Amino acid sequence: MFVNRMWVGANLPSIVGEMIAAVTNTSACTYESAPVSTLMERYMIGQMLEIAGFTGGEGQMTTGSSNANMIAMMTARNLADMPIKQRGLFGRQKLFALVGADAHYSMDRAANILGLGADQLVKVELDPYGAMIPAELEWALERIVSAGGRPFFVVATAGTTVRGGFDSITDLLVLRQKYGFWLHVDGAWGGVAVFSPRLRDKYLQGLEEADSFTFDFHKMLGSALMCNVLLVNRRSDAFARGLSAGDGSYLFRNENVDGMEDLGAVSLQCGRRVDSLKWFLDWKFFGREGLARRVEKNLELCEYAEEVVAASDLLELVVPRTSFNVCFRFKVPEPASNSFNLALREALHREGVSFIGVGYIDGKLAMRLLLTNPAAEKRDVDAFFAGLIAKGSQLLQEKPLPAVVGGFCPVSL
Ligand SMILES: Cc1ncc(COP(=O)(O)O)c(C=O)c1O
Repeated sequence: MFVNRMWVGANLPSIVGEMIAAVTNTSACTYESAPVSTLMERYMIGQMLEIAGFTGGEGQMTTGSSNANMIAMMTARNLADMPIKQRGLFGRQKLFALVGADAHYSMDRAANILGLGADQLVKVELDPYGAMIPAELEWALERIVSAGGRPFFVVATAGTTVRGGFDSITDLLVLRQKYGFWLHVDGAWGGVAVFSPRLRDKYLQGLEEADSFTFDFHKMLGSALMCNVLLVNRRSDAFARGLSAGDGSYLFRNENVDGMEDLGAVSLQCGRRVDSLKWFLDWKFFGREGLARRVEKNLELCEYAEEVVAASDLLELVVPRTSFNVCFRFKVPEPASNSFNLALREALHREGVSFIGVGYIDGKLAMRLLLTNPAAEKRDVDAFFAGLIAKGSQLLQEKPLPAVVGGFCPVSL
């Protein structure tokens, strides 16, 4: 009944990997200090590039998609205007990044860290399914260009955090042709559809043409936190050019045996935890088919949960479900809906019935059901909703909603 977050209990192989990483306690920064980990990370990046359909590219493990988004933005920014690395943004053409209105908050933080400023992170209006409206994006691009700015970075979110919307990569590729930006795909949550040919076709068409792509193994795929990869397409020197700086000659070796390059040389970190071991073990244990099946099963359960909501007189969807997020609420007359659903969620948590997350969509509070536990079955979905309906009905009986007076309902359940 823990349906609150994008992660749940970790996979056993990755737990073993975590334990070994803790006991051996080395840093995946140089080949000489972590040879096996370096080989594993390189092998896994090669596998992921192939699965994404990226050719001649490169990749790195990062500490999560938030950082991967920032690193992608930084790489794109520095490659778009190389003197920035030396001179900073002072006196340069104004740079803009564009994202969907529901993009993850790590984009705002990246814009802040990288000195763009929040005003230069443009949030594009969404359609009813939570995807960027391409015409709105084009309009924003046109406005930036005509004002003398440069749109250097556009993000397609593959599975938005609250409602699970997918931006159309193919539509954005058409605009890239015209405006020349770097197209990054933030697949932290829904990017794992890449493992299933059927779901890739449905959600990630055009991915192989994007400039970069990140997704988490530590969310839907169940690897122990943290486990993420950032991939770059067609360029094998983007990180070296965009990220490296300073004198690392005390650490990095050009003369490593087998020509193995030190992973730390193109990372923003110096010490790097050995996250590749758990990643590698999960990959060997589950394989691509195992992971694809896991993602497909998650989607089937979400479809089922949507049917349960639709069949109930007491529940309603807040927005249409497009993928792995079911955003619903207990039906009560407005304007009590938000406070009632918040109170219901708190009661469920406090009394140990279930633990669900909430988010706001256009001001409406939605319970966000995430079914990441691979052991979950339809009967668990039934049990979850039964518990929620019972508690919601009980709350209504104990404390009926006060009558609405003058449009204001002073409910404090
Ligand atoms: C769409 C999206 N991007 C990025 C992130 C951040 O991922 P991480 O927790 O790996 O930093 C999240 C987390 O929920 C997300 O949903």
